[in-house]
Amino acid sequence: MTSNVTWKSRWTFILAATGSAVGLGNIWKFPYITGEYGGGAFVLVYLGCILLIGVPVMIAEIMVGRAGRSDPVHSMSSLGKTAGRSGKWGAVGAIGILAGLMIMMFYSVVAGWALDYVAQSLSGSYLQKPTAEIEQNFSSLLSNPSEQFLWHTIFSLITASIVAGGVTNGIGKSVDILMPILFGFLLLLLGYSWINGDFSAGLHFMFDTDFSKLSSDAILVAMGHAFFTLSLGMGAIMAYGAYFPGKASIGKTVLTIAALDTVIALVAGMAMFPLVFANDLTPGQGPGLMFVTLPIAFSNMAGGQFFGTIFFALVSIAALSSSISLIEPGVAWLEKYGIKRPLSTFGFTGIAWLGGIACIYYGEVFDALDYLTANIMLPLGGLMIALFVGRVMPRKMVAHEVGMGDSILFKSWWFVLRYLAPIGIILVFLNSLKLI
Ligand code: TRP
Repeated sequence: MTSNVTWKSRWTFILAATGSAVGLGNIWKFPYITGEYGGGAFVLVYLGCILLIGVPVMIAEIMVGRAGRSDPVHSMSSLGKTAGRSGKWGAVGAIGILAGLMIMMFYSVVAGWALDYVAQSLSGSYLQKPTAEIEQNFSSLLSNPSEQFLWHTIFSLITASIVAGGVTNGIGKSVDILMPILFGFLLLLLGYSWINGDFSAGLHFMFDTDFSKLSSDAILVAMGHAFFTLSLGMGAIMAYGAYFPGKASIGKTVLTIAALDTVIALVAGMAMFPLVFANDLTPGQGPGLMFVTLPIAFSNMAGGQFFGTIFFALVSIAALSSSISLIEPGVAWLEKYGIKRPLSTFGFTGIAWLGGIACIYYGEVFDALDYLTANIMLPLGGLMIALFVGRVMPRKMVAHEVGMGDSILFKSWWFVLRYLAPIGIILVFLNSLKLI
């Protein structure tokens, strides 16, 4: 059974995919791992991974989704059979659905922190407080399970109610509204940081390259993050691709999405680091960067209450438009077995919600899920998708589906999928396992 639901237009698809891509990865994770791994050189490797691996794999994912017109499991298994090979390739989609569930478990906890900080900013709870107290504030949230539980639950419920509304009316309509707000808020914050922050210190930090700081771990993290930030390797974009309208060009669409995601990550960095430096704080803070350093900065700056609220609202919106894409592939898959969307959505989100509770109580679960998904499952999923499209599907069919003709663009993409992306991913793995 194939789906005949589609997005309202190519733009809604772009907004949905960009909404999926732009999330906590861009605003929470990217700035703090850039801080931890030393700035410029890390950013450069990350950009290289986006362009050389991320973009080609995203084209492959959307193509598979559109050609299969189904959830990742059924799309991959039916295309595998059509190619005269095995239907077992559906397992890649199944592992992806599992990865989405695992990401959602810790993702909704962090999104809950962001919601908590919207409330804190609105009520001015960290305004004009001494630094130590603001730091204490975040650690007391972390040691307060019931407060985290509350926001984690609210976030999970909002996510589920959007996905339950379906692709056209739930996800499509939400991103049509949420994404313009997100862009507007981000520009507002960039202006604020431009006026109030130490902009040149921020730029130096993000773009001065010192390769001596680049460990093999940093390279693995940069590649893992390229997958994470573009929502690749687990079939999220593939599931969205199943509703891709008509025969619009995939290549151009993907470049738009990847460019928006990258620009937003960089702009988010430029909205945050200058505030950090202007307040003599350090960016190598780890996950607390956004929840400790920024409130400290906002607490003693003009307009801090307003811009603090805008900032955490932005983070929450970004998280929401991403979390719906973590749930959608699993829901689309369950729909194929005749389970109604509202039921499957709440069931599936419920499992992630339970995992989130484990993350709240056990920090190790949180860290393990983050590490395992971003650095292992997503790159492996991406590797399998590249091999599937580049080596299992017949070249003729791929060329026809992707709609690039037999141009030089098609040939370079094909080469990347067959050689560069798989070899690159494997080398980074071997390197990080200290085998080379
Ligand atoms: N890309 C999102 C972010 O940067 C997270 C995300 C949403 C994701 N859907 C995904 C990551 C699918 C991997 C796979 O925050």
